[in-house]
Amino acid sequence: MPHDTRSLNSDRSDIDSLDDIWLFGYGSLIYKVDFPYLEVQPVYLNGWQRRFWQGSHDHRGTPDAPGRVVTLVEAHGERCFGLAYRVEADVFDHLDHREKNGYRRLVVALQFGPHDIRQGLVYIGLKNSPAFLGEASEEAIAAQILRSVGPSGSNRDYLEKLVQALAEYKVHDPHVDAVYKKLLALEASTPAAN
Ligand code: BEZ
Repeated sequence: MPHDTRSLNSDRSDIDSLDDIWLFGYGSLIYKVDFPYLEVQPVYLNGWQRRFWQGSHDHRGTPDAPGRVVTLVEAHGERCFGLAYRVEADVFDHLDHREKNGYRRLVVALQFGPHDIRQGLVYIGLKNSPAFLGEASEEAIAAQILRSVGPSGSNRDYLEKLVQALAEYKVHDPHVDAVYKKLLALEASTPAAN
C-alpha cells in the first residue's frame, strides 16, 4: 500500500452516484478552503471521532520527519463536528492531489439536522497505509507537532488553526483541546533560544 492514494481515488463512481455532492471537512478543510463551493453547512458525522493519528509527510512534515494531522477513527456513540460543502465534481481533481497522503474518499451519512441525514464524501486515512501513524499519547503527539514543519508550514500552525476554527463554532473536541494544551505546556517548559 503506497502513501499516495491518488490512483485509488481516481475511481469516481462514488461521486457519480450522488445527486448533490456534499464534502465533509473536519480538519484543514474547515479553515483552508482553497476550492470553490456552492454552499456550506455545519454538520455531524456519527460514529467517528477526530484523531491526530495520520502522518503528514508532504504538508506539515517531511518524509524523514513526518508531522501529525487528523484522520477519523470509528467510535461507537461518538460524533465528529465538521463542515459540509456542496461542491461540483471537478473540485476533486484538486482535492485528491492535496489530500493524497494515505487518505481514501468514502461515502458516509452526514447529519444536517435531527431528521435530516444526507450522503456525503469524506477523506479518511487508510489504516494499512504507511502514512497512518496510529495512536500515541496526547503528550507525544503534541511533542511531534511542535517539532514538525513541512512545505505547507509548521505543524503547530495546523493545530492552532484547527483549534481556532472549532472555537468559532463553539465546538469542544476533547482530543484536539488536550493535544493543544499539552503543546502549550511543552512550549512553556522549554527555555527560549537566544
Ligand atoms: C479534512 O479537513 O476534512 C480532511 C482531513 C483529512 C484529509 C482530507 C481532508
